[in-house]
Amino acid sequence: MSSELLRNLKPSETLGSIAKVNKLKEKGINVISFGAGEPDFPTPKPIKEEAEKALNNDFTKYTPTSGIIELRDAICQKLLKDNKIEYKPSNIVVSNGAKHSLFNICYAICPAGGEILIQKPYWVSYPDMIYAAGGVPVNVVSSSSKTFKVSATDLEKKRTDKTVAFIINSPNNPTSEVYSKDELKDIAEWALKNNVWIISDEIYEKIVFNGHEHYSIPYLCPDMKDKTFVVNGMSKAYSMTGWRIGYAAGPEDIIKKIVLFQSHTTSCPNSIAQKAAVKALDGEAKDVEGMVTAFERRKEIIFKGINEIKGLKANKPEGAFYILVDCSEILKGREISDFCNFLLDNVHILVISGNAFGIENHVRLSFATSDENIIEGLKRLAKGVELWINSL
Ligand SMILES: Cc1ncc(COP(=O)(O)O)c(C=O)c1O
Repeated sequence: MSSELLRNLKPSETLGSIAKVNKLKEKGINVISFGAGEPDFPTPKPIKEEAEKALNNDFTKYTPTSGIIELRDAICQKLLKDNKIEYKPSNIVVSNGAKHSLFNICYAICPAGGEILIQKPYWVSYPDMIYAAGGVPVNVVSSSSKTFKVSATDLEKKRTDKTVAFIINSPNNPTSEVYSKDELKDIAEWALKNNVWIISDEIYEKIVFNGHEHYSIPYLCPDMKDKTFVVNGMSKAYSMTGWRIGYAAGPEDIIKKIVLFQSHTTSCPNSIAQKAAVKALDGEAKDVEGMVTAFERRKEIIFKGINEIKGLKANKPEGAFYILVDCSEILKGREISDFCNFLLDNVHILVISGNAFGIENHVRLSFATSDENIIEGLKRLAKGVELWINSL
């Protein structure tokens, strides 16, 4: 019998499709996946070499729970250089990925039944991690017809005396939108006025396009520094999803509690991966810039390709590597998950149903796959839409 908290957790919407993809692949069918939530590039060589060095030097034992001092120093330097926020190593805790940091923060600040606001559409894990931490996720929907981004006014409508925090993710998964400086300032001022924590998930920080810029709330509103957690990690920027290194920066008293919690649950992040992460942050892994250039190019291909398919609509991605596609026109009362299954069965492409992100009538495509796959996948998508329309 699972605990009350775990009873609320839902299995991932995408598991069924992934099982189906594997079955098709076993039959020798070439499936093009637009499902990836990770860069399709190898981890840059200097980072891998650093890990080899750590192994050969027997750097293979427990480390301090909060992460090695070299890494926490490197994170402080990164936050100062890129985000213009000054932190001390005592403000930093390194975890097993940004996801782990996010859960630990929710667990540390949320009393039982406390409400954590999230923008809907949301990243799949937010609602479940909030439930697992004993809180209640509260969806906030943008009142604008032009953007999914929520405003301080939208947040205020959902604020109650149980509101603890707002999780903001910019650049955003799944919408690929980037919050502007002014939008962030307004949200920060609202949070400050109402004593609400901001949990700022900045995992896609490095992947921004078309002149969009990433800003951190403590830089824009220094008074919010003690009421904000900046969360980031190595996964997306350095193509290191499997290494599991993420971190949180925030007020020392809560960071201390998180470190204590980690000490009793996960001990410390992987020692070898921590050394590799120091290398990633030292700026020598230039491959990262090439990766962003590739995403920028692919974003143009996919944006143009999708909008050329009659009945599909998408906004131009501003960051991250996803495109959210509005399929309302072609559904005609049918279910979006049936459309996703139809595409997989008939033209062998995997797209993710918006249901996973709390948005109806949309699918999310990831462009973290090769240009060739994108071009071929778009041809199949056009064919799939035609077949779907004719199947009515
Ligand atoms: C919005 C968002 N936050 C956090 C994460 C988790 O990153 P990590 O691999 O560091 O746990 C992801 C991964 O998909 C994500 O999309």
